[in-house]
Formats: sequence, C-alpha cells, structure tokens
Amino acid sequence: MNSGRRAVARAHANIALAKYWGKADDVHNVPAVTSVSVTLEALTTTTEVRFDPSLAVDRLELDGREAEGRALERVTALLDRVRRAASIETRARVASRNSFPTGSGLASSASGFAALAIAARSAAGLELDRDRASDLARRSSASAARSIHGGFVRLRAGEPGDAFLPAEPVAPASHWDLRVVVAVTTKGPKKVGSTEGMGHTARTSPYYPGWIALCQRLSAEVERAVLARDLRALGEAAEQSALAMHACAMAAGPALIYLEPSTLGCVHAVRAMRDRGVAAWATIDAGPHVKVLTTGGDAERVRQELASLPGVVDTIVSRVGGDATVELEEA
Ligand code: PMV
Repeated sequence: MNSGRRAVARAHANIALAKYWGKADDVHNVPAVTSVSVTLEALTTTTEVRFDPSLAVDRLELDGREAEGRALERVTALLDRVRRAASIETRARVASRNSFPTGSGLASSASGFAALAIAARSAAGLELDRDRASDLARRSSASAARSIHGGFVRLRAGEPGDAFLPAEPVAPASHWDLRVVVAVTTKGPKKVGSTEGMGHTARTSPYYPGWIALCQRLSAEVERAVLARDLRALGEAAEQSALAMHACAMAAGPALIYLEPSTLGCVHAVRAMRDRGVAAWATIDAGPHVKVLTTGGDAERVRQELASLPGVVDTIVSRVGGDATVELEEA
C-alpha cells in the first residue's frame, strides 16, 4: 500500500532562549517547564524515509554511514508510532544528513527528530499535520517538537500523563531579523545525554525547585521580549536561563559540568563585548558550545572575536530559520 512512497523532509535546529531542563513525566517525555526557542536557518537536517516491504528491520544511514544501536532504536521507536497511526507494519529505510559538521556535538537531535517525524508521517500516507508531527517529535526529544516550526516557538510545560503536547509558534521567522553566532568549542569528555542529565539534576540538585520556579518567569519574559523585538530584554533573560540551568546541574551530586574552559572564555568575551557597546548575549545547551544572540550589524564582529578565542574551533552565523518542510514522491 504505502510501499514505494518516499518522503524527504528538511528541518532546522533550534536553540532554546528559555531552556527546557526537567521532565514532568519520563514515560511520555513531558517537559516540566515551558521553553521558548529560535529556529536556526544555518543548521539543517535533511531526512529521507521510504517504507520498503523487502525489509525485516528498519535501516538507518546517518551522514552516509549505516547506524545501529541506540540511534537506530530511537528511530524505530518513532517509526513504530507512525506505523500504529497509519495501520501499517512495513519497515523503513531512513537516510539523514546534517548541513553542519558531523560529530561537532551541535544539537542535531532537534532537527533530526523533527525531520524524521514529518518525513515518516508523509511516507506512511498520513497528512501534514504540524501539531501531530510536533507531538510525535516531542516523544523522541522534547526540543525536536519546536523544530517543526520556524521563527520563535514555545513548548509548554505539561502535566504527568499528558498524551498530546505539540509546540506552538510564537512569531514567524519574518518577525525579527536576529542573528545567532555559534562558537563550536573543543570537546571535553563525552557529555551526559540530556534525559540522563535532567533526571540526575531533578533527583539530586538542591536548586531544582528554584530552577522550576524561575523558568515560569523567564519563559514569559523571553516571549514578551520576542514579541517586542527587545534584544536586551531577550538577551538578559536567555543568558540567565542558560546559566541557571547549568548552575542547577552543577549543584547536582555528583556535579554535572557541561562547561569547558573554552565555553567560559566565550561567555566572558561576550560580556566584555557588551561593555564595549556590542549587542551580544550568550546561551549554552547541554554541551560546551556557545550560541550568541546578536544583530545583523554586530554579527560579523562577534563571530571574529569568538573565532580568535582559545578552544574555539569553528564559528557559524545563522539567521532565523523557517518551518520544517516535506516533499513526497510516489515511486
Ligand atoms: O530535547 P532534549 O531531550 O535533547 O533536551 C534539550 C535540552 C536543552 O537543549 C539543554 C535545552 C532545550 O530546551 O533545548
């Protein structure tokens, strides 16, 4: 029935301005806090899905290489949900490519699972329903729910047992011509994955209740600043969100430290630039890289300063990206 249908989806990575860190429900992967993100045009995942009756198991190719183990299990878990929704049993071939350096440690799960969710639903003959695709992507990686939409996007905190929780657009990419400069820093030891990291933080950090309370205020401030196109207000709230998330993780027992010396070097440089009148604010996810919010006018200067710092191996300047898209071909 659906064999021979091939869908190719493109989704951009996103960076949370108000961070998600903590789950209300581990089984349904429901966030305990509201997050707000900006979609990044320069970081794109392209994913092709083809249901193929000749396959006994799903097959996955990541950046041209056959992948197995945990990566394939997570893809199969998403495909199983699509198969149930479409009442099919056919296994699929999935091929996924990132436009950004492979293995750089930049968040690829958000764009990856968003592209997979959209491509898999289309290839299985399900309609392009952004809410359902976003909810599907959220099950695999909550931040991926936000990459279904372009521009500025909110994923609300949920309640334990929430079965349906899609991300919602706050403003389209055309709303605000912001720039995000990504500083790719040297990597330390393998990072702790986000699910494991946030579980450990929730169980052992004395600051976790404070973090949850702070998120409510910061996500509202971020959203207000986005709607008002107020970069200073946005930057201050985003920087506090990132550093409070890391402070909370660092207070866990044992400490969870994602920041490398090069990460802190970038944060200090951004603060020094600000003292010199440059509009720049830093944010950091569960890894050592730094993303800087700035204007079109200051982006190149910020990029050059970050590129000159010890431990910064690459820099990428991104505009605000658009919606995830899909093309379907009948074979
Ligand atoms: O969606 P996950 O499970 O990969 O977690 C993402 C966590 C952060 O990137 C640190 C914050 C966020 O909101 O994206």
